[in-house]
Amino acid sequence: MKLPLPTRKSKDTSSAGNGNGNGNGATPEGPTKAERREAVKTATIHHAAEGGATAAGWVDQRVNGTGIYTALLTRKVPKGTNWFYTLGSATMFIFAMQAITGVFLSMYYTPSATQAYASITHLTNDVFMGEFVRGMHKWGASLMIILIFLHMARTFFFGAYKYPRELNWVIGVVLIVLTMVMGLTGYLLPFDQRSFWATIVANNITASGPVVGPYLADFLRAGPDFSATTLSRFYALHMLLVPGLIGALIGAHLFLVVKLGTTAPPWVKAARPKGARPTEFVPAGVPAPEELAANGAITNGAVTNGAVTNGAVTNGVAPADPADGSADEPVAEAAAEEPAIESGESGAPSDQEAAGDSPAPSDSDGEVNA
Ligand code: HEM
Repeated sequence: MKLPLPTRKSKDTSSAGNGNGNGNGATPEGPTKAERREAVKTATIHHAAEGGATAAGWVDQRVNGTGIYTALLTRKVPKGTNWFYTLGSATMFIFAMQAITGVFLSMYYTPSATQAYASITHLTNDVFMGEFVRGMHKWGASLMIILIFLHMARTFFFGAYKYPRELNWVIGVVLIVLTMVMGLTGYLLPFDQRSFWATIVANNITASGPVVGPYLADFLRAGPDFSATTLSRFYALHMLLVPGLIGALIGAHLFLVVKLGTTAPPWVKAARPKGARPTEFVPAGVPAPEELAANGAITNGAVTNGAVTNGAVTNGVAPADPADGSADEPVAEAAAEEPAIESGESGAPSDQEAAGDSPAPSDSDGEVNA
C-alpha cells in the first residue's frame, strides 16, 4: 500500500499577495507613506505598553506588590464587619494628613524663641493657603485624638485585645501615648502666651509624676528652666522622633492586623468546630468522659485551675454537678464511676489525700477557666 507523501505546509501567502516570489509582502508599489507612518505609530504604542507592563511586572516580582495588595485590600474579613472597623483606618488617614500638612508648615516655621511666633503669623496671614493648611493641621490633631480613642473603644468592646491580639493592643497603647505626646509638643510651637504657659503647666504636671516624673520633665524642658532650648527640643520631638516612632509602630500594628485578621463582632456566633460536642452537654467544670485519659488525668487542658489534676478532686471541692446544679458534690464520685480511674482502690483518692497533695489553692471553687 502506498503511504501518502508528507505534504509541505503551504505558506500563508496572504501577505505575499503579489505572487512575484520575493516574499516580502510588499505590494509592487510598496506601502504608502501614510501606511508606513501608521504602522510605526502602532508599533511604538505597543512597545510602550509592553515596556510598562514589563516594568510593573519586574518590580512586582521583586517586592510582591500583588501579594501586599491582596493582603491589605482584598483579604477576607469576618461576618458582621461594620463601620466601626473603619476607625483604625480613619486614624491612619488623619495621621497621614498630619504628616503632609506638617511638611508644608515646616517650610515656613522657624523654631527659634524670638522668631517662632512671627513665622507662624507670617504663614497665617501672608502665605498662600497658609491659614488653611495650618487649620487642617490644628483641627486634624484634635480629630486624631478623638478617632484613636474611638478606635480603642471599638477594639475594647469587641474584645479584640484578647488572645492572640494582646501585642497589637500593647502597640496601640504606645501609639495612643505617642499621639498625645504629639499634641503636647505641637502645642508649644506657636510660642504665644497661651502655648507658653499651658506647656509650663503640663511640664509641672509631668514633674509631679511618681519616680520618672521629675526626670521626664527635665528631659522635656531640656534643663532646669523653661528656655529657648525647650522649644528646640519640642520641635525635634514633634518633627522627627515621635512621628517616626508612630509610623514604625503603625507598620507593626498593620502587620499584625493582616497576619491575625480582625475579630468578629461579639454578637456574631462563632461556628462550632467539626465534631465538637453541643455546648448544652458541657456544663462548666465537668470533664467529659473522653477527656479523662487512661490514668484518669485530664489531658486536654480543659480544666486549668488545678482543681482537678489526676482525674480526681484534689482540693476536696468539686465542680458543679450537671445533674442537680450543686457545686458541693465532690467530683470524685463522678470520677469513681469512670472505668479508667487508677488512683486509689475505689478509683478516687480520699478527700484528705486529695486535699493534702493538691497544688490548687484551697479557695478554689472548681470552676473551669474559660
Ligand atoms: C495611630 C494610631 C492607630 C492606628 C493608625 C491604628 C490602625 C488600625 C487599623 C487600620 C486596624 C484594622 C482595622 C480596624 O480594626 O479598625 C487596627 C486594628 C486594631 N487596633 Fe489599631 N490603630 C491605632 C491605635 C490603636 C490603639 C490606641 C489601640 C488600643 C489601645 C489599638 C488596638 C487595635 C487592635 C487590638 C486591633 C485589632 C482589631 C481586631 O482584631 O478586630 N489601635 N488598628
